[in-house]
Amino acid sequence: MKLSEKVAGISPSPTLAVDAKAKQMKKEGHDIIGFGAGEPDFDTPDYIKSAAMTSINQGFTKYTPVGGIPELLDAISKYLEESTGISYKQSQIIVSNGAKQCLFNALYCLLDPGDKVLIPSPYWVSYPELVKLCGGEPVFVETREEEDFKLKAESLEHLIDNKTKVLIINSPNNPTGSVYSKEDLKEIAKIAIERDIFIISDEIYEKLIYDGEKHSSIVAADDRMKERTLVVNGVSKTFAMTGWRIGFAAGHDKLIKAMTDLQSHSTSNPNSIAQKASLEALKNPERCETIAKMVEEFSARRTYMVDRINKIPDLSCRLPKGAFYVMMNIKATFGKQLNGKIITDSSSFAEMLLEKYKVAVVPGVAFGTEDYVRLSYATSMENIIKGLDRIQEFVSVLK
Ligand SMILES: Cc1ncc(COP(=O)(O)O)c(C=O)c1O
Repeated sequence: MKLSEKVAGISPSPTLAVDAKAKQMKKEGHDIIGFGAGEPDFDTPDYIKSAAMTSINQGFTKYTPVGGIPELLDAISKYLEESTGISYKQSQIIVSNGAKQCLFNALYCLLDPGDKVLIPSPYWVSYPELVKLCGGEPVFVETREEEDFKLKAESLEHLIDNKTKVLIINSPNNPTGSVYSKEDLKEIAKIAIERDIFIISDEIYEKLIYDGEKHSSIVAADDRMKERTLVVNGVSKTFAMTGWRIGFAAGHDKLIKAMTDLQSHSTSNPNSIAQKASLEALKNPERCETIAKMVEEFSARRTYMVDRINKIPDLSCRLPKGAFYVMMNIKATFGKQLNGKIITDSSSFAEMLLEKYKVAVVPGVAFGTEDYVRLSYATSMENIIKGLDRIQEFVSVLK
């Protein structure tokens, strides 16, 4: 069978692959510590589960409006007004099967063949693949660890040409944990306005921010940004609801209508029961306390992980300000070897660590950088301690 050229260059998600491999090895009886997870290890709160069960019992099990039920759109509008400071009408919001589908819908509706999309690197694994699937060309903008992996407005200028259509901003960031400040975003917004660039602002980790940092959205950086920004968010990470598949996006009516029309022919409405559960997640008064507890736990794990890593010779990392990932710098291990096998890049580091010490991490190459591996601290403190003990041992035996 000959598959289409559209899918010929698409590779499977490397982060999901690492997680699947670790789970498979565990099933086979290996004592694996998995640092690959891209989802909170907490259970979905009970009040959310109850809302789903009520909706089933009440027969809320049929098609809904394609872009989401009106009461959920209203709740999202309120939620986004709190997080971004911008107010959206129902016609400016869409609910999809996860933030991922919002991103796909948006890129599909915005890009013509050959249009360029600027993606700060390291990047979330799906951005380049989604851009390519939608006919666009990813253009990577390097960021530096010394600058907290944050995009500098001046590094954008020379990459923009008449084919550049979109810039993706992801704050808090996966995989680096960076959080952009209001000032950072103002500088970037200025260029977007001057050079007529559309912004997709992926804010899925918006509530997972530490040390009193505050989330800022680029849509609020200038009055002219609302019409050129699509804000993407969802319930997956904030409410430990990754499997429920509800994400949402807010932006210009025209773009939202096109995304909704596209969705009407591809997947129709997102799951009716999950929509009711998400409505409860966004509205229930318990939500603030639940989020605060999760943030507190993540923050304690993050501090422990960062302290431990920075005490291991040849390894280092910065203190991430958001999300639940640490980018561990492994460059000093390159050229070292174990049993005749030499570490040459992030993949060989990750492979040897998994094979010999049964610890799963995601190689940086998946995010566009070789000098790092990504560790997720969405796992128990017990696992984190055990996993870091093993990493320390692994690095200590390298010659
Ligand atoms: C940066 C980023 N955006 C979007 C998503 C997708 O979220 P969802 O589960 O809502 O599709 C993820 C999930 O890993 C992510 O890390």
